[in-house]
Amino acid sequence: MKQYFKIDEWKIIEDGFDPKYNEVAESVFSLGNGRMGQRANFEEAYSGKTLQGNYVAGVYYPDKTRVGWWKNGYPEYFAKVLNAANWIGIDVVIDGEQLDIAKCEVISFNRELNMREGYLKRNFTVRTALGKEVQVEAIRFCSMVDDECGAIKYTITPLNLEGKVSLTPYIDGDVVNKDSNYDEKFWDEVSKQTDNDTACVQLRTKKTGFEVATAMKVTVLLDGSPVHFKSEAVLKEKYAAVQITLDAKQGQPISLIKYATNVSSQNYPAEELVSKAHERLNTIASKGFDKMLEEQAAVWAEKWKHNDIVIEGDAAAQQGIRFNIFQLNQTYTGEDDRLNIGPKGFTGEKYGGSTYWDTEAYCVPFYLATAEQKVARNLLLYRYKQLGKAIENAKLLGFKDGAALYPMVTMDGTECHNEWEITFEEIHRNGAIAYAIYDYVRYTGDESYLADYGLEVLIAISRFWAQRVNWSESRERYVMLGVTGPNEYENNVNNNWYTSTIAVWCMKYTLEVIGKVQQADSTKYQALADKIGFNEESESAKFSDIIAKMYFPKDDKLGIFLQQDGYLDKEQILVKDLPATDRPLVQKWSWDRILRSVFIKQADVLQGLYFFEDDYDLETIRRNYDFYEPRTVHESSLSPCVHSILAAKLGDVERAYQFYLRTSRLDIDDYNNDTEDGCHITSMAGTWMSVVQGFGGMRVKDGQLHFNPLLPAEWKALSFQIGFRGALLNIRITKEAVIINATGGQLNILVNNQEVTVEPGTELNIARLK
Ligand code: BGC
Repeated sequence: MKQYFKIDEWKIIEDGFDPKYNEVAESVFSLGNGRMGQRANFEEAYSGKTLQGNYVAGVYYPDKTRVGWWKNGYPEYFAKVLNAANWIGIDVVIDGEQLDIAKCEVISFNRELNMREGYLKRNFTVRTALGKEVQVEAIRFCSMVDDECGAIKYTITPLNLEGKVSLTPYIDGDVVNKDSNYDEKFWDEVSKQTDNDTACVQLRTKKTGFEVATAMKVTVLLDGSPVHFKSEAVLKEKYAAVQITLDAKQGQPISLIKYATNVSSQNYPAEELVSKAHERLNTIASKGFDKMLEEQAAVWAEKWKHNDIVIEGDAAAQQGIRFNIFQLNQTYTGEDDRLNIGPKGFTGEKYGGSTYWDTEAYCVPFYLATAEQKVARNLLLYRYKQLGKAIENAKLLGFKDGAALYPMVTMDGTECHNEWEITFEEIHRNGAIAYAIYDYVRYTGDESYLADYGLEVLIAISRFWAQRVNWSESRERYVMLGVTGPNEYENNVNNNWYTSTIAVWCMKYTLEVIGKVQQADSTKYQALADKIGFNEESESAKFSDIIAKMYFPKDDKLGIFLQQDGYLDKEQILVKDLPATDRPLVQKWSWDRILRSVFIKQADVLQGLYFFEDDYDLETIRRNYDFYEPRTVHESSLSPCVHSILAAKLGDVERAYQFYLRTSRLDIDDYNNDTEDGCHITSMAGTWMSVVQGFGGMRVKDGQLHFNPLLPAEWKALSFQIGFRGALLNIRITKEAVIINATGGQLNILVNNQEVTVEPGTELNIARLK
């Protein structure tokens, strides 16, 4: 764990420059607006270690699968979010010498991510190898208002020289993906052009044929006043720039404002992209940088009004949660139902920007409570629209009759993960997709979703489970063989408790929803049954038989569920006995050693106890928690949040707090030594859950909100906002009381199991139980 960034409640601050942390900082300071985003690369040249990253949501490349030994059923390709054209670049040459911090003496360096207003600011003073001193201030953001646009104000002040300074703002599409399977470049050039103050490069992705025009328009200010300039065009392959040379005077700031845009053929005809790009640029340039920044702050103020979590008395914890909420809002806005939430968002290439079970298991609750209902609904519809492909995917693996296996990783519904033990075996993802439907309906009360879309998905998923289990004569039970549970440090196991549990739950829920839909609208139900050839009698009977006769591994002596058959045969050592130098295991141990060990990557049995807590008594949850947590290395970012919530449920506030810090500061403090690849965006929604469901004790039961609050000793108070069925609640938990204010409608809720009525305009103050 590193403590490189300074603690501040509203900012992430890097004070001083350490090239060793540059790639971590590039991830942490990433910017985005749901439509595009980027790592915090420098504007000027940098010859040190860096991972260049600019991304346009939904634009991907199917990189041909690369495996040692091809197995039938492997997907053809791994879809990757592309490193797109770099629009932030500005080459700076001072009297013939290129500005490059890696080659300079850094006199001072400060970088701040302003989360309240949504921009990144960098200030530095350097002395070049030839002794020239300059001070630079760079401010940039991806606009939340004009979401195809971004802007930069780059100001350079010569401190000890008079001479020529040349600034070359550019668009560079000649970029690579670090994770390219065959070292290929993924873009072809369509066109490029420059004018005195503009440049545009239009590119087309190989194979998928997405076209994106990336363009810029620049203005120059001397001492704060606009000046006319005459630039020279620089054109290279997939690159267009304008070079502006100015006479620099000591102490006189030169500012370059770079307005930029990415417009894509997902939204406009390809032949109109260049003109659209110029239209966008003209709109934002006529607004001006300051106005854009003002609008940006206003949008963020509105977002914070609905999303903010305030932790009083613990600045590190406060910074952690705001960082998580900030990044989630930068990644997904819910405006476009073709988009989803990649585990790294716009902060890196890893996980290919694709959709994982993370969305349903971790992100849906965050968007349900903090955004309009349509946002979570769009996430559900995304999967509904991909149902056909999930059925195709299952067919490819030998399933039939409308059984669906959703992909582990996808861009467009097609499976694109290519390790057999995950692609073929980590099938629990199907369960999370069903669970999200349940979660959405439970939260919103929108039962019409079930008849219109949900039931069709549920039946297809249940059909898969019904074919995936087999009857074991020797056990006289149904078993599920050859699976990988959420704990990816075990592969090809039999009877993973979590997978079997969620499979059976899916079938139960499907039967329940069939009943509901039949009752609510029998015509609609019949139309659906006809459409998908659902034989209610035989198929429901099969689901019921499996529900009644499924095998679940457990150990009666320990009173726990077994993660899988044979788990107790492993050498039972605990994480606390591992030398620190062996961690993270994934970087230090052979894969073979990891697989044979008892160590668990992330919540597995505990993930099931989290989802289905009402089916188990507290003592059962406690015994399983006490057994599994000490064997868990939490090397998936998705792990600490679930443990935090369970610890809070068990009343262990100190452990809940430690896990909260770990989940909320995972990237800021680089706990898993992998933030350089990008931030763990999807687990950030888990962080939100650890506050609201963990410390807030929020649950939805029978259409009502429940709160059972708990406050870590380190916190004076905790407040959060929850949108629920037309009302917006502000819940403040202090050591003495729970204080609730509401706008919107009236609600009956339960606080510590006591029903109270919340009315807009009337503050409720409920004494806390001691
Ligand atoms: C986790 C998976 C997760 C994926 C993407 C992996 O490390 O084990 O559960 O879906 O990361 O976040």
